[in-house]
Amino acid sequence: MNILAIESSCDETAVAIVRDGREVLCDCIASQVALHREYGGVVPEIASRKHIEAIYGLADEALAQTGLSRSDIDAVAVTYAPGLIGAVLVGVNFAKAAALALGKPLIPVHHIRGHIAANYLAYPELKPPFLCLVVSGGHTMIIEVKDYTEMRILGTTLDDAAGESFDKVGRVLGMPYPGGAALDKMAQQGDDKKYDLPRSRPGANPYDMSFSGLKTAALNLIHHAEQIGEELDIPSLCASFTAAVSDTLVPRVVQALKETGLKKVAVAGGVAANSRIRADILKAAEGLGAEVYMPPLMLCGDNAAMIGAQGYYEFLAGNTADMSLNAYATKSILGESL
Ligand code: KG4
Ligand code: ZN
Repeated sequence: MNILAIESSCDETAVAIVRDGREVLCDCIASQVALHREYGGVVPEIASRKHIEAIYGLADEALAQTGLSRSDIDAVAVTYAPGLIGAVLVGVNFAKAAALALGKPLIPVHHIRGHIAANYLAYPELKPPFLCLVVSGGHTMIIEVKDYTEMRILGTTLDDAAGESFDKVGRVLGMPYPGGAALDKMAQQGDDKKYDLPRSRPGANPYDMSFSGLKTAALNLIHHAEQIGEELDIPSLCASFTAAVSDTLVPRVVQALKETGLKKVAVAGGVAANSRIRADILKAAEGLGAEVYMPPLMLCGDNAAMIGAQGYYEFLAGNTADMSLNAYATKSILGESL
């Protein structure tokens, strides 16, 4: 089954063709990052306009790259939530038109389910059940993936997402948007114990997380140093900050593995590219005898191949939509309105 997959929830326009949920025939991305960098973050209106400009050409390019014709496409999958509403709408409307014109099923895919499914592309042998740590620019969650379309949320951030806090601290340190990758690189030359930053334990659910206190503590430290003219050791600040993020994530993953008895853990989302978090998860899982699944960096960030992968399993579960499909800025990974 060849699925044409569309992703436009933030600042990447992406079109892929994925066979049977596991094989990427092509994965085309038009990134807008350089455009938004000038503003220090994504400007939603610019994102929507650029998606409109890019999406038709990308779909043609995807077909051309694979040598497939339109009649070889068996279904159209699209990110329908969550994301910047104007941006998601572009993809949803394109996908609706494509499905209607081709006379093929339309499959709505939740963006975060897509991130999880990036692991199916990287690891053909991976099957649920497994535990998944989702760490993206907008989401931070620990999820029990019971089956391809059946999930349980163990915990989530109660305020900022991990990626968001990386980007904010990176921005204040003068790093180009999005700051996560640059901060990661800088941290590799630093001492992670030099600066004392908080690890918070919010609420009653031990799996819930919070990053806003950590982010504020890092920003206060930077501003205070500026005010008193103290020179900061930037690599060590980056290393200390990354250690605090990892210390918030990894022990919860360990506890979840122990409690659920699961022996497989996957990571997903843009922040899953972080070298420290990857190393800490590997170390922790080794201690528990658990198998670790981490997509290559290319599949961690936003892409359409992951939407095609999850789309296949949504289709098998009967989760298709008609032409009344709408886009949503927010929606739970379980499909509930927020
Ligand atoms: O999943 P993603 O591409 O987009 C969303 O769905 O949000 O994640 C983007 C996030 C950004 O916050 C970016 O700074 C972060 O992933 N990121 C990283 C790294 N690479 C990307 N954060 C920390 N370390 C990295 N190496
Ligand atoms: Zn994403």
